[in-house]
Amino acid sequence: MPSTLPTRAQSAEQVTAFYDAHRTVRKYVTAEDGSPLPLPADHLQTILHAAQRAPTDATAQLYSLIRLWRPEVRAEVAALTTNAHIVTASEAFVVCADVRRVSRVLEVAGHTPGHWPAIAVHFGIGDAVMAGTNLLTAAEMLGYQGCWIGGVMNGLDGLIDLLKLPQGVLPFAALTIGQPAEQPPHRPRVPRPLVIHTDTYHDATPEELREATEIMNPIAARAGQPADWARLMRSYFAQDGSMEAREPRLVAALKRQGLWAGEE
Ligand SMILES: Cc1cc2nc3c(=O)[nH]c(=O)nc-3n(C[C@H](O)[C@H](O)[C@H](O)COP(=O)(O)O)c2cc1C
Repeated sequence: MPSTLPTRAQSAEQVTAFYDAHRTVRKYVTAEDGSPLPLPADHLQTILHAAQRAPTDATAQLYSLIRLWRPEVRAEVAALTTNAHIVTASEAFVVCADVRRVSRVLEVAGHTPGHWPAIAVHFGIGDAVMAGTNLLTAAEMLGYQGCWIGGVMNGLDGLIDLLKLPQGVLPFAALTIGQPAEQPPHRPRVPRPLVIHTDTYHDATPEELREATEIMNPIAARAGQPADWARLMRSYFAQDGSMEAREPRLVAALKRQGLWAGEE
């Protein structure tokens, strides 16, 4: 049953410590045979409840989560997304924007859905992220950790086929949850003044950006290479980086799913 508004449950220090404990975790405790360790039923219900309690644009709930259950489906999604830990996580989801359901609500009620593909992507992805974030935060409150997987962009077309995603449904990312079997470091973030602006946007100075890069360098540590965040960013976002390779796949998926707002 819905509860009344709670009184404050945690101190500021406890909340800060909770968010400081966040780690993206990619290795999970499994059963002895290496299969996923199921979440207790009440924990599963709680994280799904948290996802559904997320705020939502225009009351519409423009998202769907595909829970990956069968081992064959997990294995195929792991291959398509190039993220092997989808196989071993206690829970794994593909988090999707979904404007199909609201269009069907309209049709069932005798109304004609409008044409708003750019709005669909904007608010659909927003709703999907809010639901996924609620789910992950609830899981972390229960002592699990997880990993968002933007690697869905590597195999979008195959995922749409495999998960039988109809028009109006677009994968944003996958999300895994489990008991950590590794202890990753606390990963840095850029200094606050670069992301929290007061009243007007503050364009960072070159000096501030160099300082931010220094602070972020440890996140790019790889065996045998100096920790170099700018180089990591180059591999993703520079000319000929992986984002340029993803771009045509996303455009193709947007067109396939009826969500393309640009010119043909
Ligand atoms: C939208 C999104 C996509 C991500 N995609 C991947 C991914 O495909 N594979 C992966 O191992 N980690 C992925 N991550 C995890 C990030 O690498 C991680 O959040 C980041 O390095 C910061 O580390 P932290 O979460 O431990 O603080 C993703 C995170 C987000 C939010």
